[in-house]
Amino acid sequence: MKQVEAEPLGDVEAVSKAFEQEFERFARFYASAGEQSSAARGEGVSLQAAESLLRDLAELRTKHTGKKSELAALKKIIGRVSPADRAAFAQSVQALEASIVEKLDRVDETLKAFVQHERIERERLDVTLPGTRLRRGHLHPVTLLRRRIEDIFVSMGYAVEDGPEIETDFYNFDALNIPPAHPARSAHDTFYTTDGLALRSQTSTVQIHAMQRRRPPLRVLAPGRVFRRDTPDATHNPMFYQVEGLLVDRGITMGHLKGTLEAFVQRLFGSQTRTRFRPSYFPFTEPSAEVDYSCFKCNGAGCSLCKGSGWIELGGSGMVHPNVLRAVDIDPEEFSGFAFGLGIDRMCALVYGLDDIRLLYESDVRFLEQFK
Ligand code: DAH
Repeated sequence: MKQVEAEPLGDVEAVSKAFEQEFERFARFYASAGEQSSAARGEGVSLQAAESLLRDLAELRTKHTGKKSELAALKKIIGRVSPADRAAFAQSVQALEASIVEKLDRVDETLKAFVQHERIERERLDVTLPGTRLRRGHLHPVTLLRRRIEDIFVSMGYAVEDGPEIETDFYNFDALNIPPAHPARSAHDTFYTTDGLALRSQTSTVQIHAMQRRRPPLRVLAPGRVFRRDTPDATHNPMFYQVEGLLVDRGITMGHLKGTLEAFVQRLFGSQTRTRFRPSYFPFTEPSAEVDYSCFKCNGAGCSLCKGSGWIELGGSGMVHPNVLRAVDIDPEEFSGFAFGLGIDRMCALVYGLDDIRLLYESDVRFLEQFK
């Protein structure tokens, strides 16, 4: 076997240098144990970068310690070194291998610890942090007033009823004794949807549903949204709220109607409140009346709120028309009743001193927050 004549110790040096050069970029992760934590050593290094460093380190290990590495080549020639130099050469090769492996292992360990630490950090959940507090909401002013109205009538034995917002001509008009030529049917007022259907223009529709659902005697209160093709302004909106009342029983007279509405406004505005009934016309009542109540601000003396008249309009009312009772197969000879319809929004605007009812529909939190 041919002996190696070259300077084998010089080769060890060269291999060591080549490794050190490439190891340089990992040097910050190589420090003697206990000096610095892996987290501190990895400062400024992203988790991704650390993971990629780990992959590079594995490559470096293969390159410098694998079967095809120069280190392996050195080990192979040990046997061929002249006997005089062999021991020293073998020792230095072993020392080099130990040093390379030790460095690779230590960096590997540090990087893995760092990656682990970063992953935990990223997924960390501090259960002691205060939670995001849910902000408690509050009711809309229209809802607040609607509930006050409901409470008063419920205490007088009324049941709160609901009806659809899209209606057929029968419920919106025919059954309420509104003939086809009536102006309320005009396309200028009503939102027609598909043929024969419309957004209800009044809550009076619920009178019909209620009488069909439950037979008399009955007392029903039906608050809800209604729709009309109005151009929005300070006192109009194409969608607004009404509340309908209906009472049907034996022997009901106009006196019951007047007493009921007077009790209602007194409960709402105080016992000093008076009512006034003015003759009027509605297709579904006969006789019909517009109802006013004495101004809650000036108590009837006249002020800016009631425009000097001392009275504020409450709504329409009257004795249920016999044709309406007949439309739902109730015998007008046996039963009679009264009905009324009030606008909640306008009352709301008055009660809270709003100069524009559109404020109620704009969902502006700065406005609504005042009703907490
Ligand atoms: N539905 C009427 C309107 O929208 C209001 C009304 C008037 C309702 C008289 C009634 C009533 O129940 O009896 O203008």
